[in-house]
Amino acid sequence: MTDLILVLDAGTTSTRAMLFSPDGALKGVAQQELTQYYPQPGWVEHDAAEIWDKTLACARQVVEAAGGAAHVAAIGITNQRETVVAWDKTTGQPLHNALVWQDRRTADFCANLRDAGQEPVVQAATGLLLDPYFSGTKMRWVVQHVPAVAEAAAAGRLALGTVESWLTWKLSGGAHVTDASNASRTLLLPLAGSTWDAGLCDLFGVPQAALPEVVDNAGRFAATTRDLFGAAIPIAGLVGDQQSATIGQGCLNPGETKATYGTGAFVLANMGQEVPRSGHRLLGTVLCQLGGTRTYALEGSVFVAGSLVQWLRDSLGIIASAPETEALARSVPDSGGVTIVPALSGLGAPHWRPDARAAITGMSFSTTRAHVARAALEAMAMQTADLAAAFAADGAGWTALRIDGGMSANDWMAQDLADVLRVPVERPEFVETTALGAAMLAAVGVGLHGSLGDAAAAMRGAIQRFMPGNEPGAERRAAWDRALLAT
Ligand code: G3P
Repeated sequence: MTDLILVLDAGTTSTRAMLFSPDGALKGVAQQELTQYYPQPGWVEHDAAEIWDKTLACARQVVEAAGGAAHVAAIGITNQRETVVAWDKTTGQPLHNALVWQDRRTADFCANLRDAGQEPVVQAATGLLLDPYFSGTKMRWVVQHVPAVAEAAAAGRLALGTVESWLTWKLSGGAHVTDASNASRTLLLPLAGSTWDAGLCDLFGVPQAALPEVVDNAGRFAATTRDLFGAAIPIAGLVGDQQSATIGQGCLNPGETKATYGTGAFVLANMGQEVPRSGHRLLGTVLCQLGGTRTYALEGSVFVAGSLVQWLRDSLGIIASAPETEALARSVPDSGGVTIVPALSGLGAPHWRPDARAAITGMSFSTTRAHVARAALEAMAMQTADLAAAFAADGAGWTALRIDGGMSANDWMAQDLADVLRVPVERPEFVETTALGAAMLAAVGVGLHGSLGDAAAAMRGAIQRFMPGNEPGAERRAAWDRALLAT
């Protein structure tokens, strides 16, 4: 049978290939870690060649294990968003390391534009704010600071794109496309416009000729060159990882909301077909574009979630493994007054303070590593509660929250979310919703399913619910607000 869907999930810390059958069953997984480069404080880079090499290696591994490309009907690509790759169209080689979404090097440029009064105009057009998180100022940086990129731009050889564009180029031998969900993270795409805006490209100093064509999230965009897998496999789904998880969680109707706790925490609410406007520092973004019609989302992006637990493990050494935090959190009745604000790479929504730095407050000689671990987990619900208030103020309050991502496996955290947010928290038994969303789109792209609704009905599995229990005392909220002021 030629009906397997190959998903390439190029994330921040690792890249993976997964095979799905049209009923959503997982048929194969391969994963490789990605090297993180921190050339200066606040700078974060990836080697784009490594992203490609490892993604291809993972893809080949699962395809071979499944009996070869003859069994694969389509490829869906999902990716860490906003991360910028610059490459040479003639050689297909990267011209610089990729600037990762977490990279803060363009903070000053963003501040200058804000001081010049540009933020309301940019927000009205793109749904985004002037923060180094987004791709546009990163593209500007490579054009301005990397001679090879400037030379390629002048010679008409420059390609700029996010990670799904880079992988599609390499897989297809030269198709230069991006999907509307990824394009909506660049600061260059008007939410209501079908393609790049020349005025925005000028404002951010991005050569429009280097940008990819903006396409739907599902369709036959390109096919793999035969040398890679021995067959031309259609590339039929492209989607940013957070939009993908929203689709994989089946948030296909207005108001349905998910939170993914991965490296960061990203909450997206389906807002239907009207361009969303936030008055409370949330983002308007494209959830999905099919047949040229867009569905939008409101997003709250929190930069640090699972990466806080990694930091406790790798930098402080106070835990041996991430799952250990659950037993530690349960071993104490509360955090002993400890509060952590995990602003390790500034604060995202709804605060947007790239210069903020993390704080651990309330420690005494009686503080143990269990208190610190518990405070780290409690920070997830507190960050999410700040977003909940912003969503409610924007008229998009949550009646339930669908969670996923590596950290969502932590039952203590899931229950704490329900207790703090006062809404049911729903977790699918199959938590790989990011990959599932891309598989659903690719399945629609090649006609294995007729619509996303059909794909969701066929491919999604059972759900576990955490109902609100004891409400935490007001002191926890007050301590969080005080600690925020210390960042
Ligand atoms: O916007 C950044 C986001 O797409 C990163 O996702 O899963 O790699 O942490 P993740």
